[in-house]
Amino acid sequence: MLSVKSKKFGILENGKEVFLYTLKNSELEVEITDYGAAIRSIKVKDKNGKLTDVVLGYDTLQDYVVGDKYFGATVGRSANRIENGIIELDGNIYSLSQNDGKNHIHGGFNGFNKKVWSTEKLENGIKFSCFSPDGEEGYPGNLTSEVFYTLDKNALGIKFMAKTDKNTVFNPTNHAYFNLDGHPTVDILNQYVKINADFYTENDENSLPNGKILSVDNTPMDFREFKPVGKDLYSNFNQIKYGNGYDNNWVIKDYDESLRVAAEAYSEKSGIKLDVLTDLCGIQFYSGNYLDSFLKGKNGAKIDKHYGFCLECQYFPNAFEHENFLKPVLKAGEIYNKNIIYKFCLI
Ligand code: BGC
Repeated sequence: MLSVKSKKFGILENGKEVFLYTLKNSELEVEITDYGAAIRSIKVKDKNGKLTDVVLGYDTLQDYVVGDKYFGATVGRSANRIENGIIELDGNIYSLSQNDGKNHIHGGFNGFNKKVWSTEKLENGIKFSCFSPDGEEGYPGNLTSEVFYTLDKNALGIKFMAKTDKNTVFNPTNHAYFNLDGHPTVDILNQYVKINADFYTENDENSLPNGKILSVDNTPMDFREFKPVGKDLYSNFNQIKYGNGYDNNWVIKDYDESLRVAAEAYSEKSGIKLDVLTDLCGIQFYSGNYLDSFLKGKNGAKIDKHYGFCLECQYFPNAFEHENFLKPVLKAGEIYNKNIIYKFCLI
């Protein structure tokens, strides 16, 4: 049996009320706020039966308003970096906001993560919707998007749906930072990660994919077997230097648009294991390299570099620059429908 409860989270400067929703079944308890349609907590039982919160989040709405780390947020319209913020689509050039130096990142200055989404409670979860007008952050088309969060036993499902009235670029993701040791947090260097990929997309020194798709063989990018995040994190490998840690897109093996396990992770300490499933083609593994202690986490928890990792399912970033990358184009009249599942168990 699933219960969905809501409570007030805070009020924005413009007077708009923001809520916090709790989805709960016998295995999971998930808090999501309509501010950024963001996951604030995921509680799951550890090996001793203790309810353990395995994602980073903030205590107050104000922290989400000023925070720039995308904690748990729905990121869009387009996740990750787009070189110079320039997109060429149907012969038109679109200039997206340049909110990361000269590049565009995560939907711009006021992306999906800074919007208050409309909500609708469902039998198996909750639906968030938002409207993004033609030209917002430079993106073409009036876009209506929906994010469905549902619970099914030990799995949190995230479904992204959208439609547009003009061909546009659309590549949302969820930006949860996991720390499977739980709160209060320590760094994630001893937590194990496995990525279902033989190849990754090479980054240039600005963390933008340069179009090359390289084998993980004999490199620190090889996560085909479980290894602790910290194992090769301080190697001299250029990709790790460029990103200040892991911050790359991996090419999910045997992509055919069906749901498959893209990555797995576990903590020996808590015994909690996470499986990330998706029907998307890429997964950005980011080892929390730019986390800092500027804002505290929930219950005043310390947050610092490498205190959480993200496994962001998405189309390959910077796809418009490279002929060999699948383009995240949503055509007018078509319906976008992609999924991410975070599934938990004990090792
Ligand atoms: C990106 C990082 C970025 C972080 C926060 C991740 O998705 O890959 O480069 O620092 O988001 O914006």
